[in-house]
Amino acid sequence: MKIIAVMTQKGGVGKTMTASSLAYILGVEYGRKVLVVDADQQGNISMLYERFEPQGIGMSELLEKHRAIGGEYSTEELISKTRYQNISIIPANGFLMKTNMMLLMLEQENQIMRFKAAMEEVQDEYDYCIVDCGLLMDMTATNVLVAADLVIVPVKVGGFELEAIENMEEQLEDLRGFNPDVRMKVLMTMRQGNVTSRQAEEWLKERSGHECFQTAVRRSIMAEKATMDGEPLPKFSKYGVVTQDYRAVVEELLKDIELSTQNANNVDKSEKTEMKVSE
Ligand SMILES: Nc1ncnc2c1ncn2[C@@H]1O[C@H](COP(=O)(O)OP(=O)(O)O)[C@@H](O)[C@H]1O
Ligand SMILES: [Mg+2]
Repeated sequence: MKIIAVMTQKGGVGKTMTASSLAYILGVEYGRKVLVVDADQQGNISMLYERFEPQGIGMSELLEKHRAIGGEYSTEELISKTRYQNISIIPANGFLMKTNMMLLMLEQENQIMRFKAAMEEVQDEYDYCIVDCGLLMDMTATNVLVAADLVIVPVKVGGFELEAIENMEEQLEDLRGFNPDVRMKVLMTMRQGNVTSRQAEEWLKERSGHECFQTAVRRSIMAEKATMDGEPLPKFSKYGVVTQDYRAVVEELLKDIELSTQNANNVDKSEKTEMKVSE
């Protein structure tokens, strides 16, 4: 299972839109097994997948009461099926705020390793885990970063983009000791047809020095309508431009991840051959 976190410390830039669309396309259209994780106390992605319960169990229990830390829950018990084939979810609600406070006050070593430990239990059951993060770099976000293979940073043109990207990069650097291989990739969202938007896109891809998806997601009212209607965008607007853009993002993602997995396997194999030769 590859863990992909959608994260940035900016609000309203399309984190939930990105996470929910990628999960839907991977699960429903590509038939991959997807585990959605809601790491935002607002519970927006839980709402889109119709599993939001203000008093229900989910991410808070995973971080506070998982059996890996002596609690009562297995990961499986915190996962709910959604109405979509291949897509399951660990939901979140307002209790996550309290969970963050609790973890912050603890001084145990496993305080930031908890999400990783819980995900190891279901490692073989899913192809992708897509995590929708909230705004804060809190204990939930730190737990997610320690476990992530890839962090997608959505960027909406409109100011302070560079700060947001660089903040994320600093956080990743600070956690390198716990997660040396985590990568970050910028995704431009809500692109418009004007000059400013085009210049920003060119700067992001060619001069920012950050790894970036080639696809920029366009802006369209259909995306907002899908959110208002409470449905994942690719379900609500099957042929809309934003859905098409997210399909292109998924294609890039699959190529990227499957290629890097292949490379890793090849390295493994060549190491084995070398070992044999030297034996
Ligand atoms: N490509 C897009 N075009 C137009 N509106 C979008 C697009 N992506 C997201 N939105 C809208 O922007 C708002 C914020 O998006 P959301 O994904 O909730 O952001 P975040 O999770 O980063 O706070 C929502 O109303 C959503 O419908
Ligand atoms: Mg959100």
